[in-house]
Amino acid sequence: MKISDLLTYKRGKNLFLPAHGRGFALPTDLRRLLRKRPGIWDLPELLDIGGPLCSIGAIAVSQDESAKVFGADHCWYGVNGATGLLQASLLAIAKPGEAILMPRNAHRSLIQACVLGDIVPVLFDIPYLSDRGHAYPPDIDWLNKVLKLTSSCKLDITAAVLINPTYHGYSSELSILIKRLHKQGLKVLVDEAHGTYFASDIDKGLPVSALKAGADLVVNSLHKSAQGIVQTAVLWSQGQLVDPSVISRCLGLLQTTSPSSLLLASCELALKELTSRSGKRNLSSQIDDARDVFLRLKNLGLPLLKNDDPLRLVLHSSYHGICGFDADKWFIKHGIIGELPEPGTLTFCLGFNPLKGLAHAMKKCWYKLLLDNTSPKTYPPFPGPNFPLLSHPSMSCSLAYRSNSNLVMLNEAEGLVSADLVCPYPPGIPVLIPGELLDQQRINWMLGQHKFWPNQIPLQVRVVS
Ligand SMILES: Cc1ncc(COP(=O)(O)O)c(C=O)c1O
Repeated sequence: MKISDLLTYKRGKNLFLPAHGRGFALPTDLRRLLRKRPGIWDLPELLDIGGPLCSIGAIAVSQDESAKVFGADHCWYGVNGATGLLQASLLAIAKPGEAILMPRNAHRSLIQACVLGDIVPVLFDIPYLSDRGHAYPPDIDWLNKVLKLTSSCKLDITAAVLINPTYHGYSSELSILIKRLHKQGLKVLVDEAHGTYFASDIDKGLPVSALKAGADLVVNSLHKSAQGIVQTAVLWSQGQLVDPSVISRCLGLLQTTSPSSLLLASCELALKELTSRSGKRNLSSQIDDARDVFLRLKNLGLPLLKNDDPLRLVLHSSYHGICGFDADKWFIKHGIIGELPEPGTLTFCLGFNPLKGLAHAMKKCWYKLLLDNTSPKTYPPFPGPNFPLLSHPSMSCSLAYRSNSNLVMLNEAEGLVSADLVCPYPPGIPVLIPGELLDQQRINWMLGQHKFWPNQIPLQVRVVS
């Protein structure tokens, strides 16, 4: 079948990303635009339109306006997802040879930026919830312990990255963490790919947005947590710690010279939707509906996990002895397509889709699965990775990635240096990064993880020759 034929294929209930739910929740003005003659909107950087790095033109004006409305000093729209903007941000906050503190659940794009810019990722471990196999954001006590260790690591750490919220919708008290990192003299970049809509500021129960919490740089994925088309994203900056002209120059290193005008219009409209009166009204009722779905399903006995993002529904299938991948296959077979299957859970992204009938359909599907299930009653706790609280690669990521390399069996790799990322996707969180030394403990853990993710965590690793 041709790609183009697959695009319009009916797929059941779309509880995966992008969050506009296959067009149901695209902003009205974008739908209007897409109804015009196909292709009329596909324009290059014409003088009156410009681009994200031009100082004149409609895009420059729109970015300035968005910055004003969202309370930032500067704003850049992106057409290569949060990935492209995170990478440019990282290059902007550290020079080659400098180090950046980041949590172990950093998205792979951040590690790739370290490879590109010869930046040292100083990785801190984070809490691990072994009943479900999820990483959890650190609190201030945890961060204090990490910062105590950084003084002995003798690297020139210039900045820190926080991931908030996580893919599963867990969030920490961001303002306190950012204040503490600033006190340590570090610039702070927050990867808020999954939390764009928190900035709408419409609901006291939502986590505070990273901009409001005082981050210097914030990256949002507009297709993951707002109503943008796939690949749309936005980067915000505020304060004096990061020079906006350096950010622009770093964006210029990675950005296409032909950004899609349709995607840029989608960036603008997705942000407008979060602040317009009608957009806020719709969002508010979506959040209410999502909370209602959660409560109804919970009362009906579905093992849903508590989190901080009402638009992410996390089914703890392993609580009933069912692996998240098997649950995913079952739900797909019954017309409900989730976003993130993992060994212990299946995460659904409710997005901005109408949720009518969802609770009933999910309940029916889950109880059929329970009847069909022959696996033992519950899973043993998921083994945590046992990473040290603070560590960094033994060789430069950049050098390791570009070195001559060869594939070896994982169980024969003790003492060798990884030349590549090993990273299940989704969620895109590496279990091994270039330059890291493979010790027996890591190998054992990865062999255990291979049993859960056989197609994504291979039994061979690429190591520096
Ligand atoms: C935490 C996090 N940050 C960044 C990204 C990259 O986002 P995008 O797909 O918009 O490039 C992802 C994607 O899964 C993510 O989970």
